[in-house]
Amino acid sequence: MATVAIVMGSKSDMVSLKGAFETLHAFQIDFEVRVISAHRTPDAAAEFAKNAEKNGTKAIICAAGMAAHLAGVIAAHTIVPVIGIPMACEPFNGFDALLAMVQMPPGIPVATVTAGKAGAKNAALLAISMLALSDAALRDKLAAFREEQTRKVEEADASVQEEIKNLF
Ligand code: RP5
Repeated sequence: MATVAIVMGSKSDMVSLKGAFETLHAFQIDFEVRVISAHRTPDAAAEFAKNAEKNGTKAIICAAGMAAHLAGVIAAHTIVPVIGIPMACEPFNGFDALLAMVQMPPGIPVATVTAGKAGAKNAALLAISMLALSDAALRDKLAAFREEQTRKVEEADASVQEEIKNLF
């Protein structure tokens, strides 16, 4: 079905994932978005993961907070690469989810990215990097994105030099 799947543990995670949706859309990657919980809908989580490969999904992005087991459970049921985004929830602000997600036992990896909104963007970019290895046009787009990003930082640097000079 979709090339990239984004699975969140709760609809409450959706607000943090805008950057992932926007990035995948900008790179014209078809993606699906699901709410599936490792704890509240464990059978659906296993079934989704078991079908992912035959559905043509090439990367699964999982966002979850608190005792964030979603990415690990999904990864346990598929060989499709799984990217995890720790979500910030009260009272530990994502540190709990980060540790739960990143500390996978050896044998079942989850590529855990930055927590929260920055992680959503990075998760999409990481999925795009994976797809770009076998898609030359996508590789060019990713290279152009990086060049534009570099140009913006250089521009910011030049404008800071100007502002500092004008201060004194
Ligand atoms: C996790 O628990 C979800 O991924 C979410 O980040 C957190 C809180 O879920 P809700 O209580 O908002 O449904 O499973």
